[in-house]
Amino acid sequence: MHKQESFYKKAKREGFRARSAYKLLDIQNRFNIFKRAFYILDLGCAPGSWLQVAKNFAEENLTKYKDQFYHRDHYKIMGVDIKKVSPIKDIHIIRADFTKIEIQMQIDSYFDSKLDLILSDASIKKIGNKFTDHMKQIRLCNEILKLVELNLKNKGNLVIKAFQGSDFESFTKKMKQIFKFLKSYKPKSSKKKSNEIYLVGLSKL
Ligand SMILES: C[S@@+](CC[C@H](N)C(=O)[O-])C[C@H]1O[C@@H](n2cnc3c(N)ncnc32)[C@H](O)[C@@H]1O
Repeated sequence: MHKQESFYKKAKREGFRARSAYKLLDIQNRFNIFKRAFYILDLGCAPGSWLQVAKNFAEENLTKYKDQFYHRDHYKIMGVDIKKVSPIKDIHIIRADFTKIEIQMQIDSYFDSKLDLILSDASIKKIGNKFTDHMKQIRLCNEILKLVELNLKNKGNLVIKAFQGSDFESFTKKMKQIFKFLKSYKPKSSKKKSNEIYLVGLSKL
């Protein structure tokens, strides 16, 4: 069976809305991004499989980290997408373009303090020209970094999707100035020929 198909079937069987759930689970297995994550923002969340994964970990964290270190007795997860997303219980989903400034008001009114984790699997609409797509995606990533600088707490983590290309290195340099550790990851479930790559920023400075 084709690899992509098998991920699709697995996702369906396990109740995830999309097979991209496994990319996030792979990233979690490697970097433990969900450690003590209670306040989570997911940018470009449709159809919602990353929200499903985030909810599972946030729920688990409520009991897992009940100690003298940073913990909360509740979680807050917000998802944003231009597309309509079917509701998920206890998750705040808004339909909006997160590059518009109004998004900050929405973030402020939902969260009462800074975020532990920001996820972004957002991607531009590809036109098929690798260079143009790469540049547009980098522009989107730069918009996301503005939100990260404003809303992610000190020591918070970020996962962001980029496309490799000429400006990739300068983007990673920028991320290195924001995070103590920068990792990159090409999940197993990414098509081999794709230039898609995830950057994982750990412990915001
Ligand atoms: C690959 S999908 C996300 C899949 C999701 N992680 C999941 O597992 O269900 C990328 C999404 O990013 C969204 N997106 C791209 N740019 C956006 C923007 N500026 N504002 C809001 N959503 C955006 C697209 O509408 C698309 O639904």
